[in-house]
Amino acid sequence: MARLDGRIALVSGGAGVLGQAICARLAADGARVAVADIDEAKGRALASSLGANGLFVALDVTSEDAWRAAMETVTKTWGPPDILVNNAGYLKPANIEQATLADWRKTMQINGDGTFLGCKFAVAAMKARPKSASSGVIINLSSAMGIRGRAPHPAYTASKAAIRLLTQSVAKHCAAEGYNIRAVAVMPGAIDSDMLRLNIPAGSTKDDYYAQVSGLNLVGRVGKPADVANAIAFLASDEAGFISGTDFPVDGGSTV
Ligand SMILES: NC(=O)c1ccc[n+]([C@@H]2O[C@H](COP(=O)([O-])OP(=O)(O)OC[C@H]3O[C@@H](n4cnc5c(N)ncnc54)[C@H](O)[C@@H]3O)[C@@H](O)[C@H]2O)c1
Repeated sequence: MARLDGRIALVSGGAGVLGQAICARLAADGARVAVADIDEAKGRALASSLGANGLFVALDVTSEDAWRAAMETVTKTWGPPDILVNNAGYLKPANIEQATLADWRKTMQINGDGTFLGCKFAVAAMKARPKSASSGVIINLSSAMGIRGRAPHPAYTASKAAIRLLTQSVAKHCAAEGYNIRAVAVMPGAIDSDMLRLNIPAGSTKDDYYAQVSGLNLVGRVGKPADVANAIAFLASDEAGFISGTDFPVDGGSTV
């Protein structure tokens, strides 16, 4: 029996680089996975690659109505989600002198509002599950930049720091109410992705930048999407049943 057999998962931003790896890992571990994204073409393609264990759900994480509809679709199709991965995210490099209020607000809407709404709808859906079920799990994608602010990313770092304490608050509320729901903030470091490549300084090459970033952690390489997906599959499983309310870095030790 696979460790997530019978579980139902919803992954926001499931069509993105990390999202695809997370969806594939959860499905490989036995979960049925709703790929939720604004990118319908990529989302549908990924969901169909998962066969009967995949479902595409259109979701703009900044919209309360879209969250309500996505949760209803998953619940009607399979049942209430056991696992929510709040993975949709947005980063636009712009330091405090360059960033506009519109940049700040867009970042806070996708990363902040999107994660808040995901938690809110997941708690409502998960608390209705049978008491005998494994714990519901909410996994929020923060970032190593949620621990250490970086000059080019005032809005992103602020949004990712907010996600860490949002996660603590949700975990403590669920515990106090006896809901049998865990919540964990995952903090990836530099992962090979389009988002990481946005950070390559002008005049530098990808190889030079990756070599520089590799030197900033203890493992000596850039992370792979699978590194994050593997950690999330573990956190979603009963093997992580004693882990809640906490930060879970997947950063090669770059923040120690
Ligand atoms: N890539 C990294 O190095 C890294 C490091 C730390 C944290 N993270 C976090 O991991 C998560 C995934 O990152 P990624 O590299 O896969 O990014 P990505 O840009 O490849 O994927 C993001 C996904 O979110 C979707 N999305 C954007 N706005 C949305 C909205 N309003 N509603 C629904 N979906 C929306 C996009 O369509 C895309 O599929 C993000 O939260 C990111 O901040 C990434």
